[in-house]
Amino acid sequence: MNNQVRRAGIVGIGSAIPEQVCTNQYFEKIVDTTDEWIFTRTGIKERRIAPAGEAASDLGARAAISALDSAGTSPEEIDLIICATISGDMPFPATASVIQDRLGASKAAAFDLAAGCSGFVYALASAASFIGSGVYDKVLIIGVDLLSRMTNYADRSTCVLFGDGAGAAVVAPADDSHGILSIVLGSDGSGADLLKVEAGGSRLPTTADTVQAQKHYIQMAGSEVFKFAVRVIGDAASEALEKCGLSPDEVDLFIPHQANIRIIDSAARRLKIPTEKVFVNVQKYGNTSAASIPIAIDEAVQEGRLKKGDTFVAVGFGAGLTWAASVIKWGMDSRDGSTH
Ligand code: UT7
Repeated sequence: MNNQVRRAGIVGIGSAIPEQVCTNQYFEKIVDTTDEWIFTRTGIKERRIAPAGEAASDLGARAAISALDSAGTSPEEIDLIICATISGDMPFPATASVIQDRLGASKAAAFDLAAGCSGFVYALASAASFIGSGVYDKVLIIGVDLLSRMTNYADRSTCVLFGDGAGAAVVAPADDSHGILSIVLGSDGSGADLLKVEAGGSRLPTTADTVQAQKHYIQMAGSEVFKFAVRVIGDAASEALEKCGLSPDEVDLFIPHQANIRIIDSAARRLKIPTEKVFVNVQKYGNTSAASIPIAIDEAVQEGRLKKGDTFVAVGFGAGLTWAASVIKWGMDSRDGSTH
């Protein structure tokens, strides 16, 4: 280990999306809602749901293989796997360890990271620190969530929002032409109750009573989280840009966490970033939690909207409450994106 700080960058990107599409019309049949309400209030048209029996490690490993492929890296070269998730295969062991075994990444250390929908950018920050300090050279980061597994399909205020998915990136030392230019992470634990699964941990272990009271499902104070999100996206993105001396008009693409089109639009307005520079795919996948940002990056690359030399800002927010932003200069060609 040396003390020199090295810049890190993304050298491989991939994602994995379940095949099964669940449209808004499905929810019209099971709760008191309409396609019109869901679309106008959230921007969501459909989301993907993983088949029974599929777990975070399955989707996460698929995304990881795709990211390794695009990086031209073999699993044996990976030093560390960080899996950002709040819906891992089980409370323990870490889903990252399960994925490590699945990939045959025999020399890799592995751990999970829980920062809700900010998790992928938190994982990116962690990878950048391990690389910057010279501890590791190749870190595989994965953002995966199957929130369908903890969604109450009788609660119309949450069940329409979430979808399943995974995204992954290989992070390695970068030269001056690309890499992570700045990172901002934050947390306000006073908002922990606003978005949570109450039972199943050490405070309230799962019992027949907690299941009866539906405390194993996601509970969210939607409008509180909404207001928080609009504020922190703008603040975190501005701070990350200031940290690397850039202004919003020098950004080629803005990739926010995909939770609600109204949150994205309000935040973009606050930042004075025009619509055409904002990447949106919430209509197709809903809120995929820790997976939303890497899926969006991967799609932006495939669609040619994120090109070599472009500067983009990724901003996440979520349970904790947490937020995270990073300004990144992209160093990969468009053809290097995955095909899910
Ligand atoms: O990844 C981070 C986690 N989550 C988020 O980012 C979500 C943040 N919050 C939101 O996206 C929005 O707050 C929601 C989409 C969840 C809700 O939208 P809203 O405009 O804030 O609605 P609201 O909660 O203020 O509710 C307005 C009305 C209520 O009816 P009443 O009390 O006015 O009669 C709700 O019961 O809309 C009702 N409502 C629905 N109506 C039809 C809530 N969900 C639905 C629904 N269909 N699915």
